[in-house]
Amino acid sequence: MIANIAGNTVEDYCALAEKLNQSNVDMIELNISCPNVKHGGVNFGTSTQSVAEVTSQVKRRCQKPLMVKLTPNVTSIGDIAKAAEDAGADALSLINTLTGMRVDINTRRPMLRNNTGGLSGPAIFPVAVRMVHEVYKRVKIPVIGMGGISTWEDATEMMIAGACAVQVGTANFHDPFACIKIIEGLERFADSLGLNSITELTGTLQEW
Ligand SMILES: Cc1cc2nc3c(=O)[nH]c(=O)nc-3n(C[C@H](O)[C@H](O)[C@H](O)COP(=O)(O)O)c2cc1C
Repeated sequence: MIANIAGNTVEDYCALAEKLNQSNVDMIELNISCPNVKHGGVNFGTSTQSVAEVTSQVKRRCQKPLMVKLTPNVTSIGDIAKAAEDAGADALSLINTLTGMRVDINTRRPMLRNNTGGLSGPAIFPVAVRMVHEVYKRVKIPVIGMGGISTWEDATEMMIAGACAVQVGTANFHDPFACIKIIEGLERFADSLGLNSITELTGTLQEW
């Protein structure tokens, strides 16, 4: 059982982590794609300094394994990943949503009330694969991949790029059986290759 936590200040994250430390959750996932209200509302996840700060502070207050979930809305995902690892993260997960925008051509207003919003699903898959691979090469801790996975082939691709496990979000909205189909597909593919576990494919990318 993994608890995903978010906050607007380092204190928010620490308060949640302290409470969860007393619970029976197995692991904490830190969603750092959140505005840091004490620093002008810029996301925690977009600077190496704030990633290091929130990671190390939470780590100090909570003995559960800590997975830091990275935002793709950055210039160097590798630098951010390294900052989280150096600050004590036990694992990394990525990617969160990419910031997007659509406009109604008749009213000329943004289609979303918030003007912009998080883009998820198949459109972001190639970005996610690239970032997972970049992070896999940069850190030693486990990398959990997500972002647009909707089939077992997508999950396999993400693992070859470097993920030791995957998460599936948006696909569940249009097919509640998506995860079951993905798991069955991975099992069949592992069997066909004579593997004991699909994780034997993790990081086996043959770069050109
Ligand atoms: C409706 C919706 C709500 C989400 N809420 C959260 C959240 O509360 N915390 C979080 O870390 N990520 C959240 N995400 C991001 C997803 O967990 C995931 O990182 C992202 O959507 C990419 O994966 P996917 O394409 O499989 O959905 C949300 C995504 C969607 C679409």
